[in-house]
Amino acid sequence: SSYEWIYNNGADGEPELVNGEESIEELYNDDFSDKNITEYDLTAEEVEWSLEKGESVNAWTFNGTVPGEPLRVTEGDVLKVNLKNNLDVPVTIHWHGVILPNVMDGVPDLTQEAVQPGETFTYQFEAKDPGTYWYHSHEHSSLQVDKGLYGSLVVEERDQKNDYNNEQILILDEWATDGDRESLTNMPGTMMGAMSGDGEADTKEMYDTYTVNGKSGNSIEPIIIGESEKTRIRIINAGYQVQKLNFPKGSVKVIAYDAADTIDSNNEANIIEVAPGERVDLEVRNNQSEPWLISNLTSINKGVNANIPVITDKDVDYANLEPNQADEGKVIDGATIGNQDLIFEDTPDEVDVSYEMDLSMGMQMGEGMTFQINDNEYPNTPPIKVEDGDIVKVEIKNNGRLNHPMHLHGHRFQVVSKNGRKFEEPMVKDLIHVKPGETFEIYFKADNKGEWLFHCHDNNHADLGMMTIVDYK
Ligand code: C2O
Ligand code: CU
Repeated sequence: SSYEWIYNNGADGEPELVNGEESIEELYNDDFSDKNITEYDLTAEEVEWSLEKGESVNAWTFNGTVPGEPLRVTEGDVLKVNLKNNLDVPVTIHWHGVILPNVMDGVPDLTQEAVQPGETFTYQFEAKDPGTYWYHSHEHSSLQVDKGLYGSLVVEERDQKNDYNNEQILILDEWATDGDRESLTNMPGTMMGAMSGDGEADTKEMYDTYTVNGKSGNSIEPIIIGESEKTRIRIINAGYQVQKLNFPKGSVKVIAYDAADTIDSNNEANIIEVAPGERVDLEVRNNQSEPWLISNLTSINKGVNANIPVITDKDVDYANLEPNQADEGKVIDGATIGNQDLIFEDTPDEVDVSYEMDLSMGMQMGEGMTFQINDNEYPNTPPIKVEDGDIVKVEIKNNGRLNHPMHLHGHRFQVVSKNGRKFEEPMVKDLIHVKPGETFEIYFKADNKGEWLFHCHDNNHADLGMMTIVDYK
């Protein structure tokens, strides 16, 4: 299609104008002359990263830390990021959840050429919608995101509605500290323990250490919330496992999922689930005077779980807290609470495109296990062909035994039903976690031209075939 190679990476790191565009702005599809620009330099580089005392891993990072440098921009401003690649493998940056022009989406071989070792590339786009996002390399994601090439991106509301005492970002991930991770991810179709029945065992066996903001065990930073004060916590799941966090009853309310504000009901729970790639924003009130732990209920086969201490004051001693492992109470996940601003007031009666997406496992001679959409592996999966302005319906069905958190680039979609039952209050998301046996119906407006990935955010599944493209004719 016409989106192939619409630019090359210029020597100065700016895209080159190769299709007769007048200016960079035209290429970026916007005029930034009257806008504030927030600029960052991000260097992809290798470091020895300490998870905690005595435990370090070889990591690939943006600016030397895991997670990479946190990015923050105000709604309506332009985010400009100068990427320099000091690794000896190509990288890109994908802006997960951000609605932006296709050329800035950071997907190698689809929206840009990957940024080669020693090269630079400048990303630039207007941050239109406030919320919690993240960025990560989209080159060989199963390896590169796993090795640390990710960070948070917060788009702040221009007129802040809420006044929280403070704000915390928690990026969840998991690491393999023993064994050669690289050979594990490069092993096609690694299916260790795939049949254990909890939906996510194929990669779980590799990991022994859960992390919060790149730290594990006693090195996890406590969160300080004064007694009866409240704070905003933005949680991003950058890993492979569905994470379940347990809070004391009455302490937590969900205020957004995937950067969309939730409606103000049905949002109190004590167990919050976050699928790979998903984000959830919480309002957490410290209703205790003693220190406590946000307890991670996610099962891990061996090794260390990650619990986050909550204390009222930085001088409080929080050693030896007991996690609350009771898996009981109300669970909220990304398909539980409706959103305030919908894409469609009512579910459209008529659609222009209707696509059935069957998710399953497959086998390929010499390759081993693969992951499929409609019985094919990417790039042979059937694309979702749309025209600008179309209303598109996709029915996603998980026929297998593993979890598939499905993520769409460049658009948000409205989740209207689960297993044939309509939601009274639909969700607006960029990722829907489809568990074994589940079917979701989603609708979106094709209003952002380009070629956009739609894929499983278990990046191992994606790299082994579970991807397709929304392709504008
Ligand atoms: Cu987090 Cu293709 O994305
Ligand atoms: Cu999957």
